[in-house]
Amino acid sequence: MHVPPPPSEKLLVLGGNGFVGSHICKEALEHGVTVASLSRSGRTNVLGSWADRVEWHQGSLLVPDSLKDALNGVTSVISCVGGFGSNTHMYKINGTANINAIRAAAEQGVKRFVYISAADFGVANYLLQGYYEGKKAAEAELLAKFPYGGVILRPGFIHGTRQVGSMKIPLGVVGSPLEMILQHAKPLNRIPLVGPLFTPPVNVTSVAKVAVRAATDIVFPSGIVDVYGILRYSQQNELHLAISLIQGTNPIRGFGFPFFYRKLKHQK
Ligand SMILES: NC(=O)c1ccc[n+]([C@@H]2O[C@H](COP(=O)([O-])OP(=O)(O)OC[C@H]3O[C@@H](n4cnc5c(N)ncnc54)[C@H](OP(=O)(O)O)[C@@H]3O)[C@@H](O)[C@H]2O)c1
Repeated sequence: MHVPPPPSEKLLVLGGNGFVGSHICKEALEHGVTVASLSRSGRTNVLGSWADRVEWHQGSLLVPDSLKDALNGVTSVISCVGGFGSNTHMYKINGTANINAIRAAAEQGVKRFVYISAADFGVANYLLQGYYEGKKAAEAELLAKFPYGGVILRPGFIHGTRQVGSMKIPLGVVGSPLEMILQHAKPLNRIPLVGPLFTPPVNVTSVAKVAVRAATDIVFPSGIVDVYGILRYSQQNELHLAISLIQGTNPIRGFGFPFFYRKLKHQK
């Protein structure tokens, strides 16, 4: 039986045509959530048929007015906007752009806001100063404006298949084995200076699952989720759902009600 989620629930993915953003859009659609996206290029041709079910908006977070239409009726936001370049550009795109989005969403009465930030890479932070300072500024704004519905995900390297033009680049060839090894080597991460370089990579699907759950599940705790948290939550999702389906028991207890309830209904 297909039971659609409440029609009032709408997710806006900022950067929904990017690597992480497109996986988040697909994951949310699978859960029956109404999905919109905003980015500078809007819908791009290389996206699959799932893209027909997304409401695409074209605009830049650096021009806050372009957010007005996209935020219409939106209950939660996930921002995947970020990038590299000069220090000034990195601060703008990771920091200012997201701060604009957080403020606009708070003014609009959005309930939950998830920001894809990045793990701390210790010594490497100095080489990418604008990137990390931008991320930290956006994180601070999110915690101030969304003390109860703000979630920050801090992945390290994200692997999966990245679409570049018409080419598909399988980043998982390197990322998957490293993830397997390094997720069990947490103590290495605590070594001064170089420790953060041992941060395990995470699969883009895991990031997408946790981001959608954080955005739509009212009991998902607000605050920071590090790489190990992302791995734990995504493994919990799979394990808990599998047990519930096998036992035919209520998948809700101990986890977020709306997320698991809907997921189970969609499986039927
Ligand atoms: N990939 C990784 O390994 C990794 C690791 C840790 C953290 N992260 C973080 O995760 C987030 C997503 O990464 P990604 O790899 O998916 O990046 P990506 O593929 O480059 O996606 C970035 C998205 O942001 C949009 N965008 C850029 N500038 C914008 C602006 N001014 N206004 C509106 N949209 C804008 C881009 O679309 P348009 O170009 O069409 O605007 C694109 O959809 C980033 O914040 C990144 O720092 C990524």
